[in-house]
Amino acid sequence: MHIDLSGKRALILGASGGLGSAIATGLREAGADIAVVGRSAERLQAAMPEAKARIVADLAAAGAPDAIADQALAALGGVDILVNNSGGPPPSPALGVSAEVWKAQFEAMVLSLMKLTDRLAPGMVERKWGRILTIASSGVQMPIPNLAVSNTLRSALVGWSKTLATELAPHGVTVNMVLPGRIATSRVASLDAAAAQRTGRTAEEVEAASRAAIPMGRYGRPEEFAAAAVFLASPQASYVTGTTIRIDGGMIRSI
Ligand SMILES: NC(=O)c1ccc[n+]([C@@H]2O[C@H](COP(=O)([O-])OP(=O)(O)OC[C@H]3O[C@@H](n4cnc5c(N)ncnc54)[C@H](OP(=O)(O)O)[C@@H]3O)[C@@H](O)[C@H]2O)c1
Repeated sequence: MHIDLSGKRALILGASGGLGSAIATGLREAGADIAVVGRSAERLQAAMPEAKARIVADLAAAGAPDAIADQALAALGGVDILVNNSGGPPPSPALGVSAEVWKAQFEAMVLSLMKLTDRLAPGMVERKWGRILTIASSGVQMPIPNLAVSNTLRSALVGWSKTLATELAPHGVTVNMVLPGRIATSRVASLDAAAAQRTGRTAEEVEAASRAAIPMGRYGRPEEFAAAAVFLASPQASYVTGTTIRIDGGMIRSI
């Protein structure tokens, strides 16, 4: 199967590193024009020099979704593929998270993605073709200890994405989620370092214990994760909508 995205225009959030930049690279290699978003012009330039637009924005800021949509539409002329991705929240137990943290993380991780989708989906509907992908976490299927904010807020995205998929299916716009298990990025390295500090182990010991719980026996590579996203963005995935795909090396044991 040859995936050809030439003529398609993709906007990828959180694309100065990790999963977002791997997806942006995959989409560009398949021929799409890309615009990428992150908080640092330098990091975006270093990671995505070939992008048509590098949009500096903080998803936690209230005006960010409109600013991103305006810049992406100006640079690309339209957005056919939207990759909703964000930074992850700080680790914590469920008990005792302050209202300020819940609200701020909801704004950055959930509301910003919904608002941006609200701006860009109508153009996809009008053109009768679109792909909306949202990156979440395996924690929406099996909550991850000490990642209560992620487990909770990303589950809201699952309900939203599924509802949206039903609404947009008649218009040729698919809406899906991609759930990483443990993919080797700086986010996972910093979570391992935090767990090491919390439990008095080394980061290597923490990683070894994590690997032991993954049937593949290793963390995934960002490009392995991106391959699934590129497929979902492709014309070939035209009958796949309203689903969540786990890329986790078999880590989640349920069906
Ligand atoms: N990797 C995994 O195995 C895994 C597992 C479960 C869930 N996840 C989640 O999947 C998402 C991507 O993961 P990752 O591993 O690629 O994370 P990452 O390495 O931390 O990358 C996050 C990306 O988002 C950008 N970003 C962070 N906060 C932002 C903000 N407020 N506004 C705009 N851009 C922002 C970062 O760039 P700047 O810092 O330059 O802004 C970076 O490009 C995260 O939410 C993570 O929690 C990942």
